[in-house]
Amino acid sequence: MRADPLQYLSEELDTLKSRGLYRHLRVLEGEQKSHASFDHRSVVNLSSNNYLGLTTHSRLRERALEATRTLGVGSGSVRTIAGTMSIHMELERRLADFKRTEATVVFQSGFTANAGTVSSILGKDDFIISDELNHASIIDGARLSRATIKVFPHRSADAARAIVRELPRERRRLIISDGVFSMDGDLGALPELCDVADEFGCIMMVDDAHASGVFGRNGRGTIDHFGLHGRVDIQVGTLSKAIGALGGYVAGSRALIDFLHHRARPFLFSTSHPPSVAASCLAAIDVLEGEPQLIERLWENTRFFKNGLQALGFNTGASESPITPVIVGDAALAMKLSDALFENGVFAQGIGFPTVPQGKARVRTIVTATHTRDELQLALDAFANVGQSLGVI
Ligand SMILES: Cc1ncc(COP(=O)(O)O)c(C=O)c1O
Repeated sequence: MRADPLQYLSEELDTLKSRGLYRHLRVLEGEQKSHASFDHRSVVNLSSNNYLGLTTHSRLRERALEATRTLGVGSGSVRTIAGTMSIHMELERRLADFKRTEATVVFQSGFTANAGTVSSILGKDDFIISDELNHASIIDGARLSRATIKVFPHRSADAARAIVRELPRERRRLIISDGVFSMDGDLGALPELCDVADEFGCIMMVDDAHASGVFGRNGRGTIDHFGLHGRVDIQVGTLSKAIGALGGYVAGSRALIDFLHHRARPFLFSTSHPPSVAASCLAAIDVLEGEPQLIERLWENTRFFKNGLQALGFNTGASESPITPVIVGDAALAMKLSDALFENGVFAQGIGFPTVPQGKARVRTIVTATHTRDELQLALDAFANVGQSLGVI
């Protein structure tokens, strides 16, 4: 019998189990909603990125069905060969208008938008100046680019300036920050980082995955929120969270987008979205423009729930968005808190290293526009009970 060369994987999994860090995938039965069934248990769902409830919105459903009926279920090719459909072009035009940029390009996901962009616009002689809590897709793109990565402490534009000052001006230097940080819910130091970029002639890039559909007028994102139009060269957004479907996009100049068409490897080497996805995203932009009350409700719910957690005495960090972490420190405790909440009818995922730094484990909550007050109150009551019994508050 051949010895299993992957035996070491089982051993690593055993280590995770012995430390209480092994997680199985929770299975959603039915639709992604504010109250949903996971693993056969009915729970208040505080774990999705479905900020506006668009995953089940009737206008998106209708447009997806119509596109499937008229255009089929798949695009059949990568964009650069035969897989650019007119509906893909329509979505990109619409996104460019929405973001007020010259052009956009849609990728298969926000992950590939970030990784494909950062890795293609820089090379080994260049520099990336990156917030320490930037998303994994930025980090992977930076590694793939082979540029030198300089990390600055979270939200410290002063530290970013000190780094940039030492770098050769003739090299390309990219300053990059998340708009909203996915695990902490705080905002990037964007106005200050734009000042650094302007002062030293750097490229400025923002990943607005968690800000698309949430911040700015009609959900245009943090660039709109901070009034930074024209100062951010590369904006990345996702179509997988508030927009409710799937995908990522890059918004910027026509030259940037043309370049990505020629060099961004996920665009070149992976099949484009089915027409139903593009159609859903087009309908989502209609909803953002036509139903601003959804975003208002999201923010009302955010204030109610965040205030409630803080009043109970939880450490919610520096969140300024619908993402509110409940920071407990120890990873095993975070998993225990998450499991106990689940038993009490609330799904809030426990998150530990490597997704967040060691010692900063947490349960992450995300409210949506579609949560009712009763659902949020039930969740607060469960947090109070479980938090007290585990000694977190
Ligand atoms: C900050 C950030 N950027 C990018 C992504 C990737 O987006 P997507 O899920 O569309 O691949 C995520 C999602 O996990 C994210 O949180």
